[in-house]
Amino acid sequence: MQCCSCRDDESIVDHNYDDYNHSNNNNNSNNSTDFKVTPWEVEGDINYGKLIEKFGTQPITPELLQKIESMTGEIHPLLKLGYFFSHRDFDWILDKKSKGESFYLYTGRGPSGMVHMGHLMPWIFTKYLQDKFDSKLLFQLTDDEKFLYGQDRTMKELERYTYENILDIIAIGFNPKRTKILVNTKHIKYLYPIAIEVAKRITFSTARAVFGFSNSTNIGMIGFPPIQAAPCFLPSVIEGKNVPVLIPAAIDQDPYWRMTRDIAERMNYYKPAQIHSKFLPGLGMLGKMSSSKPETAIFTTDEPEVVDKKVSAAFTGGQPTVALQRQLGANALGCPVFWYLRYFFDTEKQSDERMLRCNSGNLLCGECKSDLSKGAKPFIVEFKKRRERAKDVIDKFMYDEEPFAT
Ligand code: TYM
Repeated sequence: MQCCSCRDDESIVDHNYDDYNHSNNNNNSNNSTDFKVTPWEVEGDINYGKLIEKFGTQPITPELLQKIESMTGEIHPLLKLGYFFSHRDFDWILDKKSKGESFYLYTGRGPSGMVHMGHLMPWIFTKYLQDKFDSKLLFQLTDDEKFLYGQDRTMKELERYTYENILDIIAIGFNPKRTKILVNTKHIKYLYPIAIEVAKRITFSTARAVFGFSNSTNIGMIGFPPIQAAPCFLPSVIEGKNVPVLIPAAIDQDPYWRMTRDIAERMNYYKPAQIHSKFLPGLGMLGKMSSSKPETAIFTTDEPEVVDKKVSAAFTGGQPTVALQRQLGANALGCPVFWYLRYFFDTEKQSDERMLRCNSGNLLCGECKSDLSKGAKPFIVEFKKRRERAKDVIDKFMYDEEPFAT
């Protein structure tokens, strides 16, 4: 499974449009600080450059891309296009690998609903890293987090979504011999001994500062972060030695890693490294693709007619009339349909040409919508088949006493 397939291998050109934040406003230079990114809420017009400053992460530089290229012989489109834009210690992980030290991958999902294409992005990239670096992968499902966070959520409904989401995870195509899924409420005994060591080293005042907890936050949420930290150190427990870990995820999860890195060395573990992505925008006016706005998200279980309907109702960067669009051109960079096509279905060349034609008024929104439908429908149809096949192999992927015994 791959997104942005069939890329031509050009040199590293600055095609990631860093100044653009997938926002749908028409002001291309977004200096806004009016946005919020936490593990539970993503709001406003995100300025990713400012997030790097705010979270204290590192940008992915051309030098780092060259290092990856020298190790793997290529640069994955999601790196080249700047979708993965920030990191902590990714360079250190690569150095470790080039000296012969293997690293684990760790990523996850909070099973609060069905999976949409935004969620697939970090997982597709994680699979790519697994294949390239032959890494073992831990995949955590935080059903407890989603139960504690959502006032009205029941464990029964989370159980259903956990099952459905596991099908999506397996459908990505992770290596069954090198991938283990942990469902927090089922596999807690493997996590808890590590989680309490983490918890003991974090004060409420730190947790409040990192996560924004308040007096009205329930104490389950306040106690939860060490459970998400635990898989950062589980590889060292499994292997019986200190093991480097790399976490691919969108940047909303960063507060967890900031907290974890803070105490890692005090527990005699390596600090977990991260590679952060932007968000795939929703098909609406503003914001990331989110299950809470289902009409603007394409789910892996949507029927083709539903995909058509969502795409045809999508917000675009177009002008109010065809005549105005021909005359003034449209705003590709402010159009979710453009970004969706760029990250998933267009080649880089096609995408750059699309932008030029769009901005100059030579392309109308209907054509882009039709291209998106034509890409998304077969993708989802194929993905659904993989989900069906996943039903027969769930057991192979679940964490157990000897997770990676051959
Ligand atoms: P969750 O379920 O909110 O999100 C799952 C993964 O998808 C990313 N993500 C997105 N990426 C691109 N575009 C979007 N619109 C979009 N929305 C969500 C998230 O960053 C995440 O990588 N607490 C976590 C579960 C978790 C986890 C982890 C995630 C446990 N351990 C380790 C990453 C790494 C959660 O609720 O993710």
